[in-house]
Formats: sequence, structure tokens, C-alpha cells
Amino acid sequence: MSIQDRDKVRQEVISGLTNNPPHISPKYLYDELGSRLFSAITALPEYYPTRTEAEILKRRSAEIKSTIGTTSTLIDLGAGDGEKAATLFEPFDINQYVAVDISAEFLQASLRNLQSRYPHIKMIAVAQDFSHTLHLPPEAVNEPSLVFYPGSSIGNFNPTHALAFLQQVHRACQNGHLLIGVDLVKPADILERAYDDALQVTAAFNRNILRHVNKLAQTNFNIHEWRHIALFNADESRVEMHLEATQETTVTWPNGQRQFSAGERIHTENSYKWQIEAFTAMLKQAGFKDSCYWTDNKHWFAVFLAKA
Ligand code: AVJ
Repeated sequence: MSIQDRDKVRQEVISGLTNNPPHISPKYLYDELGSRLFSAITALPEYYPTRTEAEILKRRSAEIKSTIGTTSTLIDLGAGDGEKAATLFEPFDINQYVAVDISAEFLQASLRNLQSRYPHIKMIAVAQDFSHTLHLPPEAVNEPSLVFYPGSSIGNFNPTHALAFLQQVHRACQNGHLLIGVDLVKPADILERAYDDALQVTAAFNRNILRHVNKLAQTNFNIHEWRHIALFNADESRVEMHLEATQETTVTWPNGQRQFSAGERIHTENSYKWQIEAFTAMLKQAGFKDSCYWTDNKHWFAVFLAKA
């Protein structure tokens, strides 16, 4: 990262901390340790989304493939280690894989690993924060492609931002399809347990953002003074994560500081939960056609497919 980029990050973080109410962008949850903790979350019994989505994709892959028809390029938004996409390589007959993710280094390492296991697939790494603008290399969009956006990552966007994002994706996947995983509204106790697990892995994941922020913005958060909060906000249809000060405390950084009172909260993440009808309507509004979806027996998670 350049000095200017680092400065921008620092300013963004400080501006969020000095805001009322204070917040930290969820993208800072994912430093190296944060990514490992998220990976651990996906293995927790309470955290159903990853496992449920994988089951749907596995059970329905033939049906999904036949609805799509021929596609040979898979564009993976937020590829991470690429393992989710790799489960589609064989069932979908993929011969070109475009992996898009924020971290260039991690992406390169992931692709080296995947390339050795799938030598016949052409792999392209695109290091990009695509949450606001998505620019794909021309070689990636010269044929109808399948854009894959799994994990209910769309849940981090509020409905307005989600629509704008889908409009971008629609432009990027001309003539192709979008395959997207979406977490659905369900009873609050199930949602809250998924974001506040018994082993407190999610608490560690949330509190780790303060370690990361200490590095990024030279703040001096004492992590012991902050507790994890996860709650379902039914009016907004989202699970919220916060960090709550257990006592009055002052956080300082070069040229600034902020006092937090006991019980004051820093908002760190929203995870929107959708109803099938509302998500279907949003896909249509973003320009997609003929959307359909597959779900699990409990109707906890849905995988949508739509034509660009
Ligand atoms: C990666 C954004 C889909 O919202 O469920 C998991 C992140 N936060 N547990 C989600 C997350 C707390 C996850 N997403």
C-alpha cells in the first residue's frame, strides 16, 4: 500500500471513530488474523450460512448448470482462497476463472494453489475493492460469464447500496448470469446465535477489528475494555455487530482522541437479511431477468440465479 493510501485509510478510520454514533467499516475485520477467525466462524455449528449455501450448490449444481446453459468463464467476487468457486469448476465445466478480491498477495497465493490442482483452467487475478466500482479486465468479459457472489456478502450493503452494486455487476456481466447467495430473514434467536456463538469466535472476530485499527490508525484501543454485541434489528432487517465499552475510556491517536462512556457502542457491521420477494424485486430493478432461486429445507438461505 502506498503512503497516500495508508493516509486515506487512517483518515477514514479516524473519521468513523469521531462520528456520532461511532463506526468502523466492516472491511477492517479482515486482516490476516480476522480472515482466519472468519474461516473458523464458518465451521461453527451456529453459523449456518456457509454450510447451507454449500449444500444448496452441491445438491442443485446440475439444475443450476442446465438453467445457465453454456458458460465457461467464472468471475468470483470476493474470491478469498477460491475454494467455494473451485467446487463449481467441474460441475460447471469452467475453463477460465477470474478471481476478484481486495488483497493482492492473498489472491496470488490462492491462485497458485488452485492452478496446480486445476492446470487446464486459465486463471486471472484481479486485485480490487469492488464494493463501489467493479472494473473487469477485457479478457474476462469477452464472452458470457457467470458472476459468482456467494456467502451473502451482499448482506454487508444496505438496500440502496446493494441495488447500486447489483447495477454495476449487471453492467459487468453483459449477456451472462449472476449466481448469488443471500441469507434470509428468520427468527431473531437463530440469527443472534449465529453472530454470538458459544465459543465466542465471533466475539474474537469482532474485537480483533480494534487490533487492526490500532495498527492502521495508531490508536490505542485496549481490547479488554470492549465487549462483543450482536443483535437483530428487525426494523432494518439486519444483524448488527457492535463493540461496547465496558467502562469509561479514552482512545488516543496522533493529533486526536475520543472519550467513550461506559456502555457506548461502536458499530462494526451490518448483515442484512432478505425476503425472497424483496430480493427478487431488487434483481429485476438492477436490470436482471428471469431470476430463480434454490433454498434449503428450512428456507434459511437462498441461491439466486439471474440473467444479465
Ligand atoms: C462475510 C459478510 C457474509 O455477514 O454473515 C460473520 C460476516 N460477521 N459473522 C456475515 C460475519 C460475523 C459475514 N459475511
